[in-house]
Amino acid sequence: MWSGRFSEPVAELVKRYTASVDFDRRLAPFDIQGSLAHAQMLAECSIISDKDLADIRRGLGQIEAEIASGDFAWSLDLEDVHLNIEKRLTHLVGDAGKRLHTGRSRNDQVATDVRLYLRTAIDDLLSLIKALQGALLDLAEKHTRTVMPGFTHLQIAQPISFAHHLMAYCEMMGRDVERLKDARRRVNRLPLGAAALAGTSYPIDRMRVASLLGFEGVCENSLDAVSDRDFAIEFTAAAALIMTHLSRFSEELILWMSPMAGFIDIADRFCTGSSIMPQKKNPDVPELVRGKTGRVNGHLIALLTLMKGQPLAYNKDNQEDKEPLFDTVDTLTQTLRIYADMITGIRVKPEAMRRAALQGHATATDLADYLVRKGLPFRDAHEAVALAVRHAEQKGCDLAEISLVELKEFSALIGEDVYLVLSLEGSLASRNHIGGTAPEQVEAAISRARTKLAAP
Ligand code: ARG
Repeated sequence: MWSGRFSEPVAELVKRYTASVDFDRRLAPFDIQGSLAHAQMLAECSIISDKDLADIRRGLGQIEAEIASGDFAWSLDLEDVHLNIEKRLTHLVGDAGKRLHTGRSRNDQVATDVRLYLRTAIDDLLSLIKALQGALLDLAEKHTRTVMPGFTHLQIAQPISFAHHLMAYCEMMGRDVERLKDARRRVNRLPLGAAALAGTSYPIDRMRVASLLGFEGVCENSLDAVSDRDFAIEFTAAAALIMTHLSRFSEELILWMSPMAGFIDIADRFCTGSSIMPQKKNPDVPELVRGKTGRVNGHLIALLTLMKGQPLAYNKDNQEDKEPLFDTVDTLTQTLRIYADMITGIRVKPEAMRRAALQGHATATDLADYLVRKGLPFRDAHEAVALAVRHAEQKGCDLAEISLVELKEFSALIGEDVYLVLSLEGSLASRNHIGGTAPEQVEAAISRARTKLAAP
């Protein structure tokens, strides 16, 4: 394989240890795309003949078809996707195939392939996130007046609308979209032309290759071009955050579906039963999303660790970038796809949400604010309400159920109008500023999100 330089073949075990073709073959369409652009540039710069270019195009076209139909004979002896394709090309078209690698190395070739792959993956993921946001907005739209308890420390804190809660996730996903778009700009640079590490002595035109492949520019230092994997790390970091968001959401879906809350039901097709307990319906999908987050977070650490000790420029270590990256893309793709569908299959149980909101003195802050509006300093109001809550606790009822006479004992400022602020609806409506849970504010947030979603 490596010609006259070697006096014995690679050991069988070593061959299996060093080969990447089993997993990097999925780069084949991008490898071919990169080769076609490289060959075209070589011909335009008169480094190879037009006849060579025509042969290369014909051969690569056939190889693409063979791979697509499953007829391509992948060989472990040929180590990776690049050598497999090059060998087959030479077999098909002869010398032109051997000329394709002029002014190129597998080092800049593989970096180009991975960037082309990831660019496509990011575009697909962006559409999937947007589809999920769309599903969230559809659900939120129906629930701007559905009251549920908002929590801090997982204790009932203040009433919010279910839509407001959902919109928090829509907001997170908006940042996820921004992050992916930003990372894409750095993915979208061309390494080809760096060759092995120092550039090449042929009169190549890197800008031409960049424009043929739709890259926004070239990697400007040849050493950096072949060794940089920042773009993969950045992407995986963004992916880990997306999974983290979905993991938090999953945790809530699981809690909400527990009979102890009973706020929602998840459609049967996303759940499984138990082999021993006939009554069980388990939220497997959200649980797995939570679990798979660990896997993606792990890939981020794997990639960071892969890079931390590497001297310039290319090292074989970099071959290890692919599996974590591919698995990150696959896991995220499947997760986003399933999630959008699962959101449409959520059945909301507003009565249970309301019951819970009425249990935890959720409008205590509203009562304090009421007293402040009547002239009491906030700290004094806080204390008066705390005593009233203690009284309600002792009576085993909610703050809103205490009579006016009793309430007046905690502050003479309390009048009949207090029941407006003690109601869940009054509490929601009063938080009427951008970012607040008042129905009209949440409606506005939904419509802002729709506009953003419709933008390219
Ligand atoms: N399979 C290799 C990788 O994924 C391709 C580049 C190999 N280059 C080299 N000089 N060994 O990184």
